[in-house]
Amino acid sequence: MKKSIFTLLFFAITLFVQAQYNTMSVPEALYGTTFNLNIHESTKQLRTGNLTVTGSINNETFWGPTLFINKGDEVHLNVTNNLNESTTVHWHGMHLPAVMDGGPHQVIPAGTLWQPYWTVKNQAATLWYHPHLHETTHAQMTKGVGGFIIVKDPIESALALPRTYGVDDIVLALTSRSYTTANQFEAPPTSNRVYGDYMLTNGTPNAQISLPKQYVRLRILNAEIERGYNLGFSDNRTFYIIANDGGLLNAPVAVTRVKLMVGERIEIMVNLGNDTVGSSLDLKAYNSGQTLGFPGGEPNTTGQFGSLLNNIDFTVLHINVAATTANPITSVPATLENNTYWTATTPVNVTRTLAVTGGQGPTPFTFDNTPFSLTTINKTVNLNDTEKWTVTNNNIFGHSFHLHDIEFKIVARNGVTTQVGTHESGWKDTFYLPRNESVTFIGKFDDFADSDVNHPYMYHCHFAGHEDGGMMGQFIVTTALGNDDVNPSTDFNVFPNPANDKLYLNLSDSNTEVYYVTIVTVTGRVVMMLPQPQWQNGIDISSLSSGVYVIQMMDKKTKSLTAKKFIKK
Ligand code: C2O
Ligand code: CU
Repeated sequence: MKKSIFTLLFFAITLFVQAQYNTMSVPEALYGTTFNLNIHESTKQLRTGNLTVTGSINNETFWGPTLFINKGDEVHLNVTNNLNESTTVHWHGMHLPAVMDGGPHQVIPAGTLWQPYWTVKNQAATLWYHPHLHETTHAQMTKGVGGFIIVKDPIESALALPRTYGVDDIVLALTSRSYTTANQFEAPPTSNRVYGDYMLTNGTPNAQISLPKQYVRLRILNAEIERGYNLGFSDNRTFYIIANDGGLLNAPVAVTRVKLMVGERIEIMVNLGNDTVGSSLDLKAYNSGQTLGFPGGEPNTTGQFGSLLNNIDFTVLHINVAATTANPITSVPATLENNTYWTATTPVNVTRTLAVTGGQGPTPFTFDNTPFSLTTINKTVNLNDTEKWTVTNNNIFGHSFHLHDIEFKIVARNGVTTQVGTHESGWKDTFYLPRNESVTFIGKFDDFADSDVNHPYMYHCHFAGHEDGGMMGQFIVTTALGNDDVNPSTDFNVFPNPANDKLYLNLSDSNTEVYYVTIVTVTGRVVMMLPQPQWQNGIDISSLSSGVYVIQMMDKKTKSLTAKKFIKK
């Protein structure tokens, strides 16, 4: 009797302790070369009481599926915007043509199917995708629209690394949210707060996970609006950084703490092999006592820059150690990649500087005192040039700088090569730019040129509020065009008409290059957007409902639109 009461009490206590945590959601994994992404509103029980309205993709209720793609594959994305407003989807870290980039110019109206595709040139890495519509990024990111992309390649695959998704290879999207009294996310236009009060790990509040007693791999993304994370484990154990933004480091870096700013990724390996099954530890943000200008280091708990998580240490993931799996990884490889990097003394074709400006009083942050404009090209880069950029922040606050198109190498901080962190020693696309510091990087703008000013690449601060506020610039990568003065005839026909599943183009001039195809209803609503379509294979119109449509073809040379009507059976 006594024993059973004790057992009951034990279970009650166990239940109580576990009730503080919720099992972390692991985003669904999608494989292959064609991916269908349906962006929509959803709801999620994040707190007691009202459901919270969220944004998500496919079957998730916050965030989206993880896309596994292989280097060398041609991948096709069918992105349907089922939100009630326009959006874009940017493939953060992906090296691809500007017209496929999903930045502020590749706007997907509500109800429209956008079909970008590209050949994967990135090496194995943890990338991600998220909305990027100018002045709406903060609100749409807050809802939770986004997802991971995991690029695989033969070098990574040949290494003895944990790679069983959801078992010993875990994606972690770190963010935080504040709630209204009705349990809705605080976001623009009704709130200007930039830091959440409550942690969400893969969209799970107070997240916990069971991980096997062995080396595990955590692919960590700072998916915040603005907050930085100074990550470490609750017992201060050493862990190993094996990759940063652009892929594997040449060798693992042992640390006990690592800073991760908005948009940055790291992959770490941590050894749970010496832990007792049934024991637990926490992955934490040691954010107390950071230097001035650290995002989330502010002392206040309320107001625009206040948060209950400011300037404190808090748990981002509770880890319960479970039994070892059948084929555990028991060590960290001593060498990982064989990247050759540029150094501070590498000769370059072009040197540029960029300064953080603004931010005084009500003035938004900018670069070079030039607020973002969709119609201004701030920089023009020659295809295949190697460039050295120095971004200087002699300003009041830290920022997270991100460049589209390429992965680059940070060669100096404050002009000093040895100040580059070991955790950021690989290929990068995003970095922390603390107050009163400068960062110098070298990158080669190869493979993709497009002089169309309507499809530039971006560089910007990845704090969603700063980006929306104008802390962003545009660049195009150009190549010398042939001296072909003759404009092609852009006339074309479509067949069959009426058409059922596939529509074919018949160009009257074989010199015409198809740059963009848009299918609109007779009332002008855009239903399909096809950047540089592979029109020779026919255009798949099976997703259209029966009716009359207009197909508009933009040719590469004249950028003029030629339109034809067709009937979908
Ligand atoms: Cu992660 Cu320009 O974006
Ligand atoms: Cu910023």
